[in-house]
Amino acid sequence: MTARRLDGKQLAQTMQAEIAEETAKLLHHGIRPGLAAVLVGDNPASQIYVRNKRRACDKAGIASFLHELPAGTSEAELLELIDRLNADPAVHGILVQLPLPKHIDESTIVDAVSPLKDVDGFGPHSLGLLAAGRPRFLACTPHGVLQLLVRNDIPLAGAHVVVVGRSNIVGKPLALILMQKGIDATVTVCHSRSRDLTALTRSADVVVAALGRAHFLRADTIRPGAVVVDVGINRLPDGSLVGDVDFEPVSEVASAITPVPGGVGPMTITMLLYNTLQAARLSRKTRQSS
Ligand code: GUN
Repeated sequence: MTARRLDGKQLAQTMQAEIAEETAKLLHHGIRPGLAAVLVGDNPASQIYVRNKRRACDKAGIASFLHELPAGTSEAELLELIDRLNADPAVHGILVQLPLPKHIDESTIVDAVSPLKDVDGFGPHSLGLLAAGRPRFLACTPHGVLQLLVRNDIPLAGAHVVVVGRSNIVGKPLALILMQKGIDATVTVCHSRSRDLTALTRSADVVVAALGRAHFLRADTIRPGAVVVDVGINRLPDGSLVGDVDFEPVSEVASAITPVPGGVGPMTITMLLYNTLQAARLSRKTRQSS
């Protein structure tokens, strides 16, 4: 069997066109969704990520405001900027690109972003609402995984989904999303200390690899016919980018699989746009009710 490719690039284009249409509707009501992107220091990968996010905003009609700060910026200075952005009515979403320089505490910064503007979905308020079954902003990568599965008609209700990786930005929120009423998956979260990982992944209808180790998931760890989602992005010594899944051999066993690149990656940016649009709508509601 050769697995069907779950094409994130194509779906991202479709969804970004839908978001552009919704953004245009909001513009008719006098609201232009706005995203503030904060970049501290000169990490080249972060610069590329932020540039791609701003490009996608432009295409969808979302305003983007770039705040580039030197690597030596103090935590207090960054907090001051976030306070200003929290209060700025033209800014509906705030994205602080991670990682931050070592002298700045990431949790302090993530906690400082207004819960109404937390379009990354990383903050404790967003995560708490999700855990309480009242989601507001879903973290972008796990939300992108959900959309890839749902829009490709992969059945999730009652399915056993095994998530490999328990990070705060992918594994943990993804498990919470898949457990939501209406999605109704049975979720197992495993990690580097899980006993007999292969027995767990082989019992899955859907396996999500999100642990950040190149080619970790091999063909014999997948049940024939399972769906495989690869969240990993790892750079090999020769410069090539690969996922956490050993793509070619796993494709011979799985029924559907996401490629790297072109799978989950493009969906992450798309869900950031989606959250920014949601944040702009939310600001309209809170303005009307105050
Ligand atoms: N660094 C790597 N991925 C992300 C992301 O999705 N959001 C932010 N803020 N920083 C990141």
